[in-house]
Amino acid sequence: MELLTDRNTMRAWVQQQRTAGHRIGFVPTMGALHAGHGSLVRESLATTDRTVVSIFVNPTQFGPGEDFDRYPRIFEQDRVMLQELGCHALFYPDVASMYPSGFQTAVTVEPLGSQLCGRERPGHFTGVATVVTVLLNLVRADRAFFGLKDYQQFVIIRQMVRDLGLDCEIVGVPTVREADGMAMSSRNRYLSDEDRQRASAVSAALSAARAAFLAGERESGRLEAIARRILTEAGIHRIQYIAVRSAAALLPLEKIHEDGVILTAVKVGKTRLIDNMVLTLPG
Ligand code: PAJ
Repeated sequence: MELLTDRNTMRAWVQQQRTAGHRIGFVPTMGALHAGHGSLVRESLATTDRTVVSIFVNPTQFGPGEDFDRYPRIFEQDRVMLQELGCHALFYPDVASMYPSGFQTAVTVEPLGSQLCGRERPGHFTGVATVVTVLLNLVRADRAFFGLKDYQQFVIIRQMVRDLGLDCEIVGVPTVREADGMAMSSRNRYLSDEDRQRASAVSAALSAARAAFLAGERESGRLEAIARRILTEAGIHRIQYIAVRSAAALLPLEKIHEDGVILTAVKVGKTRLIDNMVLTLPG
């Protein structure tokens, strides 16, 4: 596995691979890798010729008072995991290389980026869209892989790629979960044992809403209420949002008459957790 740490070496490596006729898959991450990231890497390895993973804790997507400084950084462990998976290149730039001094550009996807998580974290999705644009331009991948765990992020990136005419296919990969249903996340390690137990109510709440949906319930408000009750019964009271939206564009829906998605963001202890489940209409 090649280790590339600045824009020029990244570009040169990609140029070589493309000249050799290889199709490139790209998995952007912030590191602290777990099986969720692993599943994206496997998907890329299985469907392209050369897989690049980036590890970059992107400062512009963290708000003031958020966890940028304490975000887990375990590069050596990550490197070994990627090596063992069979990844071909690891892009590990520093901040000065991604944001050369004098950097002035931002990519904003509105109104998609200012609702749900974007309302709780102003500027977050602009930071994400900007860094992903730079990364996609450097890596020039044929396909880039994003987790449906961050459903809003996935929809925003897909929209951005369409709007800007970027020549890259965006692939969504299903959420990888722990045995109790909890969505894997680099931030789960912040949770105390007690909070970790409580946090399993997040996926349980969404599963209950999905079960009601599968049993025929179509009213968004009722589905949201089912999930909300399970959260509060588990002692999760800081619910930032719980919302049923259209799966394609995250538009508000009073009633589900196309595919939907139920999304939530909560705080458990000091940790912010997000999860979602797609509600696919039968047939
Ligand atoms: P990060 O949180 O490291 O996630 C990297 C990718 O892994 C994202 O596409 C995310 O959706 C996916 N992922 C995380 N947990 C997952 C799980 N349990 N199952 C499946 N996929 C999962 O998301 C980011 O980094 C950043 O915002 C980034 C896109 C790299 C831009 O900085």
